[in-house]
Amino acid sequence: MIYIANFKTNHTRETTREYLTKLQLQLFKKRPNDKVYVFPPLTALDDYQSSDVTIGVQNAYPIKNGAVTGEVGLEQIAEFNIKTILIGHSERREILGETQKKIAEKFNFFKEQDFEIIYCIGESLEIREKGVDAVIEHLVSQFEGIDTSYENFMIAYEPIWAIGTGRTASVEEITQTHNALKKVVDKPILYGGSVNSSNIKEIAQIENVDGVLVGGASLKTDTFLELILHS
Ligand code: PGA
Repeated sequence: MIYIANFKTNHTRETTREYLTKLQLQLFKKRPNDKVYVFPPLTALDDYQSSDVTIGVQNAYPIKNGAVTGEVGLEQIAEFNIKTILIGHSERREILGETQKKIAEKFNFFKEQDFEIIYCIGESLEIREKGVDAVIEHLVSQFEGIDTSYENFMIAYEPIWAIGTGRTASVEEITQTHNALKKVVDKPILYGGSVNSSNIKEIAQIENVDGVLVGGASLKTDTFLELILHS
């Protein structure tokens, strides 16, 4: 299983360091095939060296360097030896207005740089209520401009209505969606949206769930470890 902690706009440089130190001390207990990632905020990046945890960025601008006020580019994240990036998260699509065109541009830029890409897709409640066909059609539209033959990427399916709401998708909804997605893009597929220690066992057992992307329940080392060690 793949376990990804997405800190979003939480944690400082100091608390990230404490978190990672504590996490790494316990990760010898994980199963050999488990892969663990942490995505801290950009200000908390450091040159962390660990064979047990991969550090990624939640965002970067598709440019080596240049004039994009308030953004960081390749040159800045390369300083921390980072080669993993999250692209297309619904909060960036919705709150920051990132269009599919911009997201595809970002994907292709970081693909050219051989980054490992976690590519997020997900539907609104309005679309989910229209039924599974509408959901799949929407999710497939989020692959527009994305080179799905790129080797080094995985998909994170995160229904928007399940993110941070405590309402996770049902086993049936996850199964149906992941199975349909797998037929379209044969890549590892993570599920995200209110994953926690009480639902992880059920979610981890679903066929075609290759991992989880966790926000709220990843913020404390203990709760994230609980997910990793007890799923
Ligand atoms: P959540 O967030 O676990 O708090 O629902 C998941 C995500 O947005 O990646």
